[in-house]
Amino acid sequence: MANLIGGLASSHIPAIGAAIAKGQQQAPYWKPFFDGFPPIHRWLETARPDVMVVFYNDHGLNFFLDKMPTFAVGAAPEYRNADEGWGIPTLPAMAGATDLSWHLIEHLMEEEFDIVTCQEMLVDHACTLPFKLFWPDASPAPVKIVPININTVQFPLPKASRVYALGQAVGRAIQSWDSDQRVMVMATGGLSHQLEGERAGFINKAFDLQFLQSMESNPAWATQFTDRQLVELAGTQGVELLMWLAMRAALSTAGSGVRKVHSNYHIPTSNTATGVLALEVV
Ligand code: DHB
Ligand code: FE
Repeated sequence: MANLIGGLASSHIPAIGAAIAKGQQQAPYWKPFFDGFPPIHRWLETARPDVMVVFYNDHGLNFFLDKMPTFAVGAAPEYRNADEGWGIPTLPAMAGATDLSWHLIEHLMEEEFDIVTCQEMLVDHACTLPFKLFWPDASPAPVKIVPININTVQFPLPKASRVYALGQAVGRAIQSWDSDQRVMVMATGGLSHQLEGERAGFINKAFDLQFLQSMESNPAWATQFTDRQLVELAGTQGVELLMWLAMRAALSTAGSGVRKVHSNYHIPTSNTATGVLALEVV
């Protein structure tokens, strides 16, 4: 049976793509953000995942407001990136782990999640940029992926408790996959940010730090909040932290706990409080 070995989480701001393209990682503005990654690079060199299940939210590249699935699972042989208008380089396609995709889809349907299945799926900055951060020297990264899109852009959003349940079901599915491959789960998005309206620029450091702590010691902590409460606490786009919740829920089904490999928190990067986290299943 497949091994669920750990989890990664990172913010996914498009400006990161521009900073990488311009080689600005050591510039004073960017250094505190990029410095969060080398300890995780060293861990990944030994952990060597074969497949990454990626919880992310599309921002209008593959799904638009006219048709917005709550949960959508990729089952494509490859996932292409395309120009979203941010002025950043389009990244090479990533290979899909279709065998795990179909196992996940069947398992999730069995657990009564009525998901959308996508045999073609463009992936936006939320899926592509974290791979540039976790594998800066490889393009594409040396893993196959299964992208899982969770709607956080059009209300109503899935409840945090439902996202947690989805993550747990994904964790169980990975561990029941008849394969000896090493699987990790990744979350992209957050932490607190709001890009528009009267509260544009809103950041809530106290909430973010409590949420980061919960990832280690109290994984279901954020399920107490409604989507409106999460918007109030973390900002309209800060609700992307639901991806972190799904990732952590998946890990809660494996091993006897998690060990924090490394984390970093920095304010601001663009309009966002950026967080990075790596957890190993023990
Ligand atoms: C920013 C953050 C996001 O999560 C995103 O998807 C786009 C932009 C930002 O802070 O600039
Ligand atoms: Fe985003």
